[in-house]
Amino acid sequence: MSTNLNELRAAARAARAAAYAPYSHFAVGAAVETADGRRFTGANVENASYGLTVCAERTAVFAAVLAGARPITAVAVTGPDGVTTPPCGACRQVLAEFGAPDVPLTYARADGGWSDTTLGALLPAAFDPATLEASRGIA
Ligand code: THU
Repeated sequence: MSTNLNELRAAARAARAAAYAPYSHFAVGAAVETADGRRFTGANVENASYGLTVCAERTAVFAAVLAGARPITAVAVTGPDGVTTPPCGACRQVLAEFGAPDVPLTYARADGGWSDTTLGALLPAAFDPATLEASRGIA
């Protein structure tokens, strides 16, 4: 795997600047690498109707999907300095749609370091495309 996680982390950090977070003031940046070697970034986009907010991870994933760049092969996520920022449950589900269980995900920790994990560790037993595929011909 050619992924340079440090470059992906830096891209996620830089992406925070694009966040629209006037309500939470919690800017998040994300970066995903795709199988073709491209990189896509995202940031959270909030809404006055709070529940319509879209997280940084999902805006990054959707940018990759819209560019025709699937699957995702690495992910980096960071929030404000001094805050540990793992992906929320909804984003884990969306990441599982487009990345295999062994795909690395690195997220920023409060101490300035990074925690490295995988999509499969973050969402074991995911309800993923294979789940629906397995049902073909049954229903
Ligand atoms: N947020 C993300 O962008 N990613 C996550 O995984 C968790 C939360 C955003 C949503 C909202 O704009 C702000 O962080 C506070 O919840």
